[in-house]
Amino acid sequence: MAMAYLAQASTMLGSLTDRIRVSLSRAGLRYGEYSGNYDRLTRLYRRRDPWNLANSGDGARFAETNRRIARASPDCPSLLELGAGEGIQTGFLARVAARVTAIELSQEAIDRARQRVPHAHFLNGRAEDLSALVQGQRFAVATACEMPYYVRDPGAVLAALQQVADLIVVTNHARLDHKVSFLFDGTGWRRTADIRHGRTRWHCYHWQSPHRHRAPDIAALHQGNPS
Ligand SMILES: C[S@@+](CC[C@H](N)C(=O)[O-])C[C@H]1O[C@@H](n2cnc3c(N)ncnc32)[C@H](O)[C@@H]1O
Repeated sequence: MAMAYLAQASTMLGSLTDRIRVSLSRAGLRYGEYSGNYDRLTRLYRRRDPWNLANSGDGARFAETNRRIARASPDCPSLLELGAGEGIQTGFLARVAARVTAIELSQEAIDRARQRVPHAHFLNGRAEDLSALVQGQRFAVATACEMPYYVRDPGAVLAALQQVADLIVVTNHARLDHKVSFLFDGTGWRRTADIRHGRTRWHCYHWQSPHRHRAPDIAALHQGNPS
């Protein structure tokens, strides 16, 4: 009995420590949100995992995002990830897509991401230049997770993404989404079920190309949540 209490207390303490660590590391990043200051964003990677994404909450988000992608695009042949950072989510995405191409501003982040996911294809550059970076390639799925609110002109980036992908999946932290949520009112966009982990919520959106040959399982994107 005493052992069970101890185990439970240790799990609760672990999750509390995780939450405090994530909150503290993100509090220091708030100035960078919406600033469009790419030099500053790039400099953040002087330290490892500046957003502290290797935590259980974001892990749950990545797993749930994967589950939705796998249901909407089974056997996904190709996926484009915008804002890959150090490749933590890239590692998850590589489990549901045969080929992953990832774009990231910071060369330092890409160096670490290549070690983490050697078989993904990383491109150092700005999402704004994605058509030049991917040079005529098309993708079954594209993701822009926790990144539109860092971009100078997120509307232009999403429009460029629509030119190269059949399905776009976006997850935005609920605290930050209000600045960009209007972008997802446009044609082809739908809000899907939030992803939740404890008290944290992410708003999710998907866009489907009207020219997509194989109909995606839209209902799948509305299903279920981990918690
Ligand atoms: C918070 S991290 C998101 C990482 C991961 N996608 C996730 O959902 O946790 C945002 C990443 O987007 C990158 N980023 C921001 N603006 C960008 C842009 N215009 N082009 C490419 N990458 C960008 C940042 O450098 C950072 O690595």
